[in-house]
Amino acid sequence: MQNIVEYIQEEFGTREFIPLHAPVFSGNEAQYVQETLRSTMVSSVGKFVDQFEVALAQYTQSAKAVAVVNGTSGLQVALQLVGVKTNDEVLTQALTFVATANAIAYLNARPVFLDVDRDTMGLSPNAVQDFLEQNAEIREQGCFNKKTGRRIAACVPMHTFGFPVRIAELVKLCDQWHIPLVEDAAESLGSFMGSKSTGSFGAVGVFSFNGNKIITAGGGGAIVTSSIQLGEKAKYITTTAKVPHAYEYVHDELGYNLRMPNLNAALLLGQMEQLDYFLQRKRALAQRYAQFFATTSMRFRMEIEGSTANYWLMCVETENKEQRDALLQQTNAQKVMTRPIWQLMYRLPMYQHCWRDAQINAEFLEERIVNIPSSAL
Ligand SMILES: Cc1ncc(COP(=O)(O)O)c(C=O)c1O
Repeated sequence: MQNIVEYIQEEFGTREFIPLHAPVFSGNEAQYVQETLRSTMVSSVGKFVDQFEVALAQYTQSAKAVAVVNGTSGLQVALQLVGVKTNDEVLTQALTFVATANAIAYLNARPVFLDVDRDTMGLSPNAVQDFLEQNAEIREQGCFNKKTGRRIAACVPMHTFGFPVRIAELVKLCDQWHIPLVEDAAESLGSFMGSKSTGSFGAVGVFSFNGNKIITAGGGGAIVTSSIQLGEKAKYITTTAKVPHAYEYVHDELGYNLRMPNLNAALLLGQMEQLDYFLQRKRALAQRYAQFFATTSMRFRMEIEGSTANYWLMCVETENKEQRDALLQQTNAQKVMTRPIWQLMYRLPMYQHCWRDAQINAEFLEERIVNIPSSAL
């Protein structure tokens, strides 16, 4: 174990604290932020919001991108856009960051936790298919759970740590069962399945630009969609549902104030310009890690064939929980930050009562996966 700590210290060139993921601001960030201050356009209207939205739509080949205050509210709005309502069920994975489940719960809908694939760590098409074949039927108003009588209003796969899920299979299943697909792509900007960006497969996709993500706005998120109509609706309900008018305040439905301020968008545009460089640095680090961990009893996790991961947070699979705990203890004691994968959502008090399947792969991964320092330095 000692040589793992030494290897990571050597890789990052320091014996000081090594974080899991530190942002890098080596492009135009400071210049754009200063320009925003000088212009006084620090709030939600401004050219950097517009420029960033165009850049993200182009990068993800979406019809429209809408910048918002964070990924969690982006997800909540995305679910609302596809029609999720009180008491509806939403299929998702238990192996995720709590925000995925929270966004569903904010709409008073109910998460249904299905297993992940062991290799992608994301929602398993087999688990979704089994669940639907055993429990679902298509009625006039959509897909329903025969056992609970509730509508299955959406499916939310999450691209764990930037490793793309088997998204094409999930799209096919969701189409077949008339279930809108919302991609939680919070962690996966720069990840592709084939040549298509994550976030662009579903009806709506959501990214996060929190401080720990591959690019950051300090805090922020974005909604992307291939539907101009959904994109415009996303902009409108995140802008207090304000009907454009030269001076009158007209709001014709319940909207939210979730717009990303121009000040944050200035920082984010500077980051976006560096995305390809970060991706390159991360891929090179991943290759070196893969070589190093091949000499240990731990497995460095790699992208599946046909996909390109952004290697946002890199991770190893330990042999068992004991080895996982020893790794976490030793690295953290020596100022090398490592973290276990999240606790499965149904272990949390607010999601204990939710429907779930056998979770064989999720529980296997929960006991073994550890994130290691992954900054694109
Ligand atoms: C999987 C996942 N979903 C949603 C979010 C929510 O994003 P934010 O922190 O920007 O609200 C995050 C990140 O924090 C995440 O990792």
